[in-house]
Amino acid sequence: MTDAANASFKPRIFSGIQPSGGLTLGNYLGALKRFVEKQDEGIETIYCLVDLHAITVWQDPERLRAQTREAAAAFIAAGIDPTRSILFNQSQVSAHAELAWILNCVARIGWMYRMTQFKDKTAGKNAENSSLGLLAYPSLMAADILLYHATMVPVGEDQKQHLELTRDIAAKFNHDYKVDFFPITEPLIEGAATRVMSLRDGTKKMSKSDPSDASRINLTDDADAIAQKIRKARTDAEPLPETLAELKDRPEARNLVNIYAALAGEAPEAVLERFAGHGFGAFKPALAELAVATLAPISGEMKRLMADPAEIDRTLGEGAERADAIAQPILAQTLDIVGMIRSRAD
Ligand code: TYM
Repeated sequence: MTDAANASFKPRIFSGIQPSGGLTLGNYLGALKRFVEKQDEGIETIYCLVDLHAITVWQDPERLRAQTREAAAAFIAAGIDPTRSILFNQSQVSAHAELAWILNCVARIGWMYRMTQFKDKTAGKNAENSSLGLLAYPSLMAADILLYHATMVPVGEDQKQHLELTRDIAAKFNHDYKVDFFPITEPLIEGAATRVMSLRDGTKKMSKSDPSDASRINLTDDADAIAQKIRKARTDAEPLPETLAELKDRPEARNLVNIYAALAGEAPEAVLERFAGHGFGAFKPALAELAVATLAPISGEMKRLMADPAEIDRTLGEGAERADAIAQPILAQTLDIVGMIRSRAD
């Protein structure tokens, strides 16, 4: 099946974030901010806190619950409107796990071993001792997407390979069962900040799991913390150049320019036009001001929302019911296609 065949599916966006730690500026610029843009473009949008993915590595149960609520608060504070988008946590819609099992039987083990994230997460450790879930992780991710017949998935650069695998799994299912049932999903990896780097090392991705808190901006950081982390961000001694090409070998400088561009909603070229010839003594305070103006209201609103966890749980429950209503018929059709008897009265 080609992308052209997707014309028979209505446009629908699905994406997810793991509640395995506090969200970072990388999650915000690479994912969350773009989720809001897609919602505001009027496309049907389904957003999921993938708690089943989070437990592929050990999570303290109470922390996981708190982090899931915090992530939900981040979505809402950043502009996701749970009446326009569907916002829910994955484990409340059991069809994700059920479809994942079917897809586990379609995907090949070798495909899983080739995933660079699996290799990275097991690097330097005994891979045989990691959870089976960590290996099968991308097949659950494919289930998340295909369960809704989602046609587009906005993500950061690091998810590209997983989305290619999702396409492969959908194509193999369609081929094996001789159907045109699953869409071949289009990854949306767009904008200046598809790969936000660590503030301490411009060659490493900004990540919630980095041991150094100074390496990232957390969505819960207050104005002082944000400004201080940007002030202390690693840079070089050169002024900013006129063209992006000249930033090729200056990963830290390029990262800060990209962050500025994404926060401002401008092209990196436009940022350089304004700051070319200026050193970081001038650029960092401007970036800090912009970051604080954008992020401090989000962290303030998150605090307010998290003061009422019952309301967050209610929102997630409502979202799960709406997600389930879309997922159940697609799961039922899938089970039918693979030859399962469906005879229960309810
Ligand atoms: P996760 O939780 O690691 O990250 C969530 C989203 O944030 C993006 N992101 C970044 N973007 C730019 N720069 C960064 N430094 C950065 N760090 C993270 C990620 O690319 C992602 O878009 N496997 C997924 C979760 C998932 C999913 C899905 C996504 C599960 N099922 C279905 C899409 C569709 C993950 O671990 O993302």
